[in-house]
Parts: sequence; C-alpha cells; structure tokens
Amino acid sequence: MGFLSVLSCAHQWISSRLQPGDLAIDATVGTGADTLFLAQKVGKRGQVIGFDIQSEALTLAQARIRKQEEDSAKMGSISLLQLSHDRMAEAVPESWQSAVGAVMFNLGYLPSEGADASIITQTNSTLAALEAALGLLKPRGIITVVLYPGHEGGSQEAEAVLEWASALPVEQAQVVMYRQLQREASPFLIGIEKK
Ligand SMILES: C[S@@+](CC[C@H](N)C(=O)[O-])C[C@H]1O[C@@H](n2cnc3c(N)ncnc32)[C@H](O)[C@@H]1O
Repeated sequence: MGFLSVLSCAHQWISSRLQPGDLAIDATVGTGADTLFLAQKVGKRGQVIGFDIQSEALTLAQARIRKQEEDSAKMGSISLLQLSHDRMAEAVPESWQSAVGAVMFNLGYLPSEGADASIITQTNSTLAALEAALGLLKPRGIITVVLYPGHEGGSQEAEAVLEWASALPVEQAQVVMYRQLQREASPFLIGIEKK
C-alpha cells in the first residue's frame, strides 16, 4: 500500500483529535482543500477560520466550498480572511484563546494554474504565526505543518521551522516529524501537540 502522503498523514493526525463542535484554523487556505476538510471534521456546531494573503486563493477556496453546498448543513461555519497568518491571534474572537483544536499550515505557494509562484510563505511570518497558533491551541490541540524544502526559498524556511519546533520545551508540546529519509527535497510534515 505504501506510506501515506504528507497531506493525508496530516489529515489523519487531525481526524483522530478534532471533535464535533471544535474550533479550527487553516493558516494557509490556498485552494481551500484543508479548509473544507476542517469544516467537515468539526461538523455543524464547529467553526473554521482561514487565512491567506492572496485574493486569488480565497476566490478559489470559496468556489470549492460552494460546490459542497449540499453538505453545508453538516459542516462547520467557515470565515475566510485575506490576512497574513502571523496576525491570527488578533483576528480570531477572544473566546478562541487556548480553545482551538487544530491549526493547519501548508507552506509554499498557491498550487493552482497561473498562480504567481513568487508569492510564498516567508520564514519570519511563518515563525510568528506558529507561535500565535501554539498560544491559541487548547490542551491536546494539534498544529500540522507541511514543508517544502525543494521549492525556491523553501529549504531556509523548512530549516527555521525545524529549529523552532525542536527547541519547544517538552512540557509545552510534543513534536513529531513524518519524512521520507532518502529524498531530502521531498515535502515533509511536522506535528505539534500541545500538552
Ligand atoms: C501551499 S498553499 C496552501 C494549499 C492549501 N492548503 C490547499 O489545500 O490548496 C500556500 C498558501 O499560503 C499562502 N500564504 C503565503 N503567505 C501567507 C501568509 N503570510 N499568511 C497566510 N497565507 C499565506 C499562499 O498565498 C498560498 O495560497
């Protein structure tokens, strides 16, 4: 059968933790696949907030969400914000502090035809967003981060995130990695579970 892709593995880690009625954040909406996944997982009593800096991404995501309209009664509410994820702590309602079940990051550029591949996530804002996400998580909440060391600009960001995550005190969070060891440039996944 082979191992799961990093994206499927991220979904699996989240599926086994997110509960109906939970709050969740998609830190990099892109085409909205993860946003939709989170809204399905939290169910009709749950809520999802998504961040992306590109209006093109939010338009694509809205179209994807509209296509699932027949399932919308079973899904959580979705709010999409055109805002950098490093501002998530101030952008979410105050009641979300220490109450979020999952935050997903899928770094890099918008994976869509004609998209501007020079608009990529940046190391400084990614690290600030990860810190903010950790603050918003509830105990046993999870952050997943998919990193792309093979992309232009991606390896420096991947190294910085690895360094940041490895230095988190074990009393604060448990950090794991899912990575193919023979291919240095292939995407990999980090999971951070808050204590
Ligand atoms: C790899 S894509 C995300 C893919 C998405 N999860 C999906 O299912 O299609 C990365 C996204 O991050 C967005 N992005 C870049 N910098 C950002 C920032 N500072 N804050 C939020 N989103 C950002 C890009 O515009 C791009 O759409």
